[in-house]
Amino acid sequence: MKNLITKINTVGQEMVVVTGTSTGIGAATARQLGKRGFHVLAGVRTNMDADKIRDINIEPIMLDITNEVHIPALIERITSDKKQRPIRALINNAAIEINAPIEVLPLSEWRRQFEVNLIGQVAMIQALLPELFKSKGTVINISSIGGKVAMGGYGPYAATKFALEAVSDSLRREVEQLGVKVVVVEPGAVTSEMSKRVRSNAQRITNEMTKEQRSRYSKLMHAMVSQAESYIDKAVSAEKAGQIIANILNNKRPRTRYTIGSDAAMLSVLIKYLPDRLLDKLIARSMKPHLNAELF
Ligand SMILES: NC(=O)c1ccc[n+]([C@@H]2O[C@H](COP(=O)([O-])OP(=O)(O)OC[C@H]3O[C@@H](n4cnc5c(N)ncnc54)[C@H](OP(=O)(O)O)[C@@H]3O)[C@@H](O)[C@H]2O)c1
Repeated sequence: MKNLITKINTVGQEMVVVTGTSTGIGAATARQLGKRGFHVLAGVRTNMDADKIRDINIEPIMLDITNEVHIPALIERITSDKKQRPIRALINNAAIEINAPIEVLPLSEWRRQFEVNLIGQVAMIQALLPELFKSKGTVINISSIGGKVAMGGYGPYAATKFALEAVSDSLRREVEQLGVKVVVVEPGAVTSEMSKRVRSNAQRITNEMTKEQRSRYSKLMHAMVSQAESYIDKAVSAEKAGQIIANILNNKRPRTRYTIGSDAAMLSVLIKYLPDRLLDKLIARSMKPHLNAELF
């Protein structure tokens, strides 16, 4: 039976590249696509993660998106594919999240976050576009609802995601006529390693603040963690997020944007209609129950 399923799943295969498949949304998306019969080139950064994700239709590939050797090696793998399978999609999923008030995050950490969350995505797009033009494929950029609404304390991460939204809009307007589709995915809270690291990251950032900075922002850092952790129970599972992303490839004419989760759906509507000051008030109100949190 397993052999029969494998046979069905490998007929007429197309390839999909997914970045950041060691955990979370990337791993779940790779598995969904593998089950649906795509041959997934699954980006990972360690041999252990390669062994974890390897499966029928899932081929792990060493891919740090900031590494100038890894990306050409991926292109070589694609162009020398023995079965000459076309690239159906690039799913730009890999990212890091470092949340801190604008004043306190060292510039080196600002740069690192932009290097992964923006420049790395652009590097992948530049490298894969020639193949995607040939196949009339799709670029799916995993942004965040934080790419639409920048809450206090989330500025550095939100900035990278706002920038990715801009890149996606420009790219769509540049390449649609040339046959390549561009889609942005904006998740709200999703259960993953990223969401589990919120507290330890906040603790590190707070410990590294000067005494004056801590007097200004410590309360905000605790409130951010408390609020983020309160969302975990209501968060969408990574598996569900992976299904939503994989479903995009069923559409001949996908939407330009998809949200994941009711929180993201609601916020993406609110920001279209609410003036800044009113949005500020709503955000402040949502933080209020968390302002006395003492978590680390
Ligand atoms: N979880 C949420 O609530 C949420 C909400 C909104 C948006 N998102 C977005 O969804 C995407 C997936 O996040 P997730 O929640 O699944 O987080 P995650 O579990 O932390 O996964 C992030 C992935 O990115 C990889 N990565 C980090 N730096 C990389 C680099 N330089 N090169 C290649 N891969 C790298 C990680 O690999 P290593 O294990 O090797 O570090 C990991 O596989 C991200 O774009 C994130 O911004 C998530």
